[in-house]
Amino acid sequence: MRALRDWQAQVVACREARLESANQAWGRAAEWFDDWVRTNDYVDQVLPRLLEVLDPTSRVVEIGPGTGAFTLPLARAVEQVVAVEPSAAMRAVLRRNLARAGIDNVEVVPQPIEDALETLAGPFDLAFASYSLYDVEAMDVVMRRLVELATHVVALMGSGEPREWERALHRRFVGQERVAPPQVQYFYPLLVEMGIYPDVEMLWTTYNHVYDSEEALVERWRRRFHLPESQGPILRQALLPLTERREGQLGIYQRSRAALVWNERGRHV
Ligand SMILES: C[S@@+](CC[C@H](N)C(=O)[O-])C[C@H]1O[C@@H](n2cnc3c(N)ncnc32)[C@H](O)[C@@H]1O
Repeated sequence: MRALRDWQAQVVACREARLESANQAWGRAAEWFDDWVRTNDYVDQVLPRLLEVLDPTSRVVEIGPGTGAFTLPLARAVEQVVAVEPSAAMRAVLRRNLARAGIDNVEVVPQPIEDALETLAGPFDLAFASYSLYDVEAMDVVMRRLVELATHVVALMGSGEPREWERALHRRFVGQERVAPPQVQYFYPLLVEMGIYPDVEMLWTTYNHVYDSEEALVERWRRRFHLPESQGPILRQALLPLTERREGQLGIYQRSRAALVWNERGRHV
């Protein structure tokens, strides 16, 4: 099980290199993330593909829904969504967004997917994870169960290509190489090793970070790198050349490749 070991080693290396646990980081960043999703296009690209295999009688389990970028539109289109979300801060924003939209067919499960597997009541038409599998060590157990539970198991994740501008910032301000979470370059071999042969489609997505002001830009990255306020001016100098104004909005406007990994039961046998 070499591919599994490689995946797990990368999960652990990434965890150890983090300045705080992923859960703590989302605790500070849930509101920010809710805005971030709106300035990027991955939901617009992927949602229509998901909806093609769903109808009003469908059931969906979503792993790591975050603030609900997919959850809300999925819930409007199907019978029920079970949303498995371990971060209390993300759940709070998700629940607020659901309430504001008047959506009541989402069951929120306050656990990591690893702990929720036993109690998830299938069958599901779709199990979907968008940028949420990076911290799952027992990925073999999770995937084995998801393919049992759901006709379509779909994961959106990064391509694994390093983003040089982000790495350079990390190196300079954190003082070490950024250890990236495992992405499709680890995930696909793991699935094949398990006898799961999904389709993989690469997509170009935006990777925009948009801010109300220069101060907000610097503050965001200062917090991300856990820097004291005294480092603000030097951070500003490093960030400003990466930014531009589009329609009056200051942002770091980048693109990034993502992988849509799609397993449909019975398709490849
Ligand atoms: C980058 S956000 C993505 C949110 C949303 N899926 C989206 O694409 O907009 C990652 C989410 O995955 C959740 N997550 C991390 N590890 C998880 C796990 N083991 N099980 C379920 N969710 C997890 C995080 O709490 C966070 O809400």
